[in-house]
Amino acid sequence: MTQLVFPPDFLWGVATSAHQVEGGNVASDWWDWERAAGTAVREPSGNAVEHYERYASDLALIASLGLNTYRFGIEWARVEPAEGAFDADALAHYKDVVRKAHANKLTPMVTLNHFTLPRWVAAEGGWCSPRTAALFERYVRRVVAELGDDVGWYCTINEPTTVATGGYVGGWGFPPNVRDVSRWKQAIAGLIDGHKRARTAIKEIRPAAKAGLAVFSIERAGNAGGKAINDYCNRWNEDVYLEAADEDDFIGVQTYARDVVTLPRIASPLTRAALAVRPLQNIVVPRVLGLKDPLRGERAYRMTQMGWEYRPESIAFTVRRIASIYPDKDLVVTEHGVATLNDPDRVEFIARGLAALHDVIAEGIKLRGYVHWSLMDNFEWSTGYDANFGLVAVDRATQKRTARPSAYFLGEIARTGRLDPEAIPIGPRS
Ligand code: BGC
Repeated sequence: MTQLVFPPDFLWGVATSAHQVEGGNVASDWWDWERAAGTAVREPSGNAVEHYERYASDLALIASLGLNTYRFGIEWARVEPAEGAFDADALAHYKDVVRKAHANKLTPMVTLNHFTLPRWVAAEGGWCSPRTAALFERYVRRVVAELGDDVGWYCTINEPTTVATGGYVGGWGFPPNVRDVSRWKQAIAGLIDGHKRARTAIKEIRPAAKAGLAVFSIERAGNAGGKAINDYCNRWNEDVYLEAADEDDFIGVQTYARDVVTLPRIASPLTRAALAVRPLQNIVVPRVLGLKDPLRGERAYRMTQMGWEYRPESIAFTVRRIASIYPDKDLVVTEHGVATLNDPDRVEFIARGLAALHDVIAEGIKLRGYVHWSLMDNFEWSTGYDANFGLVAVDRATQKRTARPSAYFLGEIARTGRLDPEAIPIGPRS
C-alpha cells in the first residue's frame, strides 16, 4: 500500500506551556489559586518538571527525536512580576530558549499567554478589567522587540474560551468563586481585545512573523434535541474567537475529543428559549457547559485518563470546520494529544490523527503543521500531575526524562515525512 506522504516543509513539533512545565511560577495568579482555601486544584504545581532550568537538555531531546518545531510559552508573570517592572533575567532566559532552539534546528513557536496572569493583573480583575488588554499589549511589545528576528511564529493567547467559559460559567472553577454571566462576557471581550492588540503589535514590530490565535475546538455531535446546545457552544466557545482571528496569519487548532449531546427532540426549542432569556443564562449556561457526562448518559466510549472520548480523528473534523470558515488561511494543529499511561494508545492516537489529517491536506486545506501536546508529562491544571500527556515520561523525584515509544514513533514520521497506513495500530487497549 502507498505511504501517506506529508508536505516537505511541514512543521512537526511538540508543545508545552510555561506554568505547566517551568516550576516556581510564584508571581502568577495560578500559584495563589493552587494554594487557596477551597481550591479545585488537586495539588500545587511546585517545581513542575523544572523546565526553566532544564530547557537546554529538553530542547536537545526534542531535536534528537527528529522533530523540527517547539511550541513553548513565555510567562507574563515572570517577565513583568510587578506593574511596569520588566525582569531582565527572565527576558534573557527566553532569548536563550529561542537561541538554543535554533542551535538545535528547531523552529520556535512562542505562546504569549497560556491561561496564567501576573498576580497584579488578576487582582485588577484579570481579563474582565478594561485595562488588561492594553497591559498585555505592552508586555507583548516588550517581548517581541526583545526576541527580534529569531521568532517567526507567535500564538497570542492560548484557548481564550478555556479561561472565559471554563472560568466564569463552566466547571473549571478558576478564577476562584466566580460564576457570573456578565463577567463571562467581559472576559470574552477582554481576551479578544488582547488578542487583536497583540497581533497588531507583532505585525508592527516584526512584520515577517506570523501571528495567530490558538483556538480550542471540539468535534460536536448529537441528535436534533442536542442541536441548540451544540449551536450555543459553537457560538460562544469557538466562533466568537474565530471571528476575532479574521486578520490572523494562521489559526492554531487544538482538539482533543468529541462531545455528543443526545436529548429528546423537545429539548432543543426549550434550550433555545431558555438561552434567549438573559436571567436564565445563569442557570442554563453552567448546566449546558459544565455537565457533559450526564447529558451523554453512561460512559459507553473508549476513554482517556481525562474522562474524554478517545477519538483521534476529531482533529480532522475541527480543521475542516475552521477551513470551511477560512478557506484561504493557513492552519496549524498547535495541540492534539491524549492522556494515558498506556503508550500504545498514544501511538495509535498519533497515527490515526495524522492519517485523518493527511486526508485533510489531500482535500487542499492549507494545514501547515502538527504540534503534539505534549513533549512530556506535566502539571495538568486542576488535575495536577495525574494526567500523562507526555511523549516523554518524567520521574518527578529525580526529574529524569525517558522518551516513550510514541516519541520515537512521531519522530520517525517527522524525519521521513511519511506514515505507513499498514503500520497504524488499531484497537482498544485501555
Ligand atoms: C491546554 C493545555 C492542556 C491540554 C490538556 C489544552 O486545553 O492548552 O494547557 O494541558 O489542553 O488538557
